[in-house]
Amino acid sequence: MHKFDDQASKVLLKVLSHTIERLSMDPPTLDYPRSVDFFEKNAPSLITKAGNSIDTVFDQYKNVIEQSIISVDSPRNLSFIPAAPTKASMIFDLVVSAGSLRGESWSESSGVVWAENQVLRWIADLVKFPQTAGGCFISGGTNGNLSALVVAREEFRKSNPGNNLKLAIICSDQTHSSVKSVAKVMDCEVIVVPTNDKYQLNANQISKKLGSDAKYSNLAVFAVVATAGTTNLGIIDDIDSIARYTKQNNFWLHVDGAYGGAGLLSPKVRKLYKGIEKANSFIVDPHKWLFAPVDCAAVIYRDQSMAAEAHSQSASYLDVLHENEEGGNPSDYAFHLSRRARGLPLWFSLSIYGVKEYRESVEHSIEIAKYAADRIQELDYLDLFIEPVLSVVVFERSGWSWEDYKIWSKQQLRNQLCFVVPSMADEKPVLRFAFLNPETSKEIVDEILLSLE
Ligand SMILES: Cc1ncc(COP(=O)(O)O)c(C=O)c1O
Repeated sequence: MHKFDDQASKVLLKVLSHTIERLSMDPPTLDYPRSVDFFEKNAPSLITKAGNSIDTVFDQYKNVIEQSIISVDSPRNLSFIPAAPTKASMIFDLVVSAGSLRGESWSESSGVVWAENQVLRWIADLVKFPQTAGGCFISGGTNGNLSALVVAREEFRKSNPGNNLKLAIICSDQTHSSVKSVAKVMDCEVIVVPTNDKYQLNANQISKKLGSDAKYSNLAVFAVVATAGTTNLGIIDDIDSIARYTKQNNFWLHVDGAYGGAGLLSPKVRKLYKGIEKANSFIVDPHKWLFAPVDCAAVIYRDQSMAAEAHSQSASYLDVLHENEEGGNPSDYAFHLSRRARGLPLWFSLSIYGVKEYRESVEHSIEIAKYAADRIQELDYLDLFIEPVLSVVVFERSGWSWEDYKIWSKQQLRNQLCFVVPSMADEKPVLRFAFLNPETSKEIVDEILLSLE
């Protein structure tokens, strides 16, 4: 079972030939989910005492399991925040898996840390962070937000030793749900600030909220979360005014760019991120709009030594790892210990295709969003909810209820036209496109919009 024998080489050939087939699909089919009944009939458990032939197991995967997974990399998948990993990044992910490549520490995996750090520095330069900045790749934006806010809390505790008030984080009514989850884990209050008429959080809105009720003075606010690319509407908060406000008040500024951080690459929208360089921490998910396979998020701190103080684990069997930290230990910079070398597929792909290709791919999504918004405004049965800022487009179909949207959405998935699910904006049901696949064309947009007539 552990040897590279005939059995293992047969698995390898099967997997490689299937992988080549999947990667050559142009484009990948959308597919659709199946019921428990369907799986009971078509995918009975293969976990038996004696095991099964490779063909039996692989056939079940190929013919049943894989067919029921909606392809996140289909150019017709515009739901939630989809993904569009480059071919090079997906293929290199096989190398990471086949080598069981890990990257907790410099002592064990210096090459991994070296290569990942090059990508992290590239991201830090996009933010315009100083040379003290650094961080690591983690599993997702949720864990990135948690890791950054834990560092913020530890820094607050250090400089406010006698403060026993309940801790609180400020965010907006458009902030991603993960921040509330993080606050729950950290046992902190969340002060939700209403956004302005452009759905942005800004300093004024925060001051107004804190001044609106005396109860807020009984909380120890230690951090503000600004979002660079809100998930539902794709809005960038007024980071510059928030940065001035957090500095005046000694609050930590964390910028959640899980989705929209990739927009830093585009000179066309870069100015909208003004002030981001003053943040204390920043996250971006390359598994969203930086064309890396899941699971790959980056958390970067303005001063990475603060993260090491908050997150570094100590144990008699581990302490040897702290004796040689020349290039840094990724396990010290977030809430994790064991970690796969999840930044390597991005490093490989970015090094091959080059920054220009990445920039153009990001800009393609911004342009296709603008195209979709223009078409929506031309069509009398559709109403644009707000002019897109990045690559999310939100709109209404006149006269439709939540149920109508759901029926249409289900039908179009069954027709394999698109995967687009409804959302809510200003308490109204809406449709939402999240563009980030460079293969999503104007023709696809037109087909989808026509199906709504
Ligand atoms: C702005 C933002 N923050 C955080 C997250 C959570 O990221 P993940 O799903 O990688 O945990 C998302 C996910 O869509 C997001 O859009």
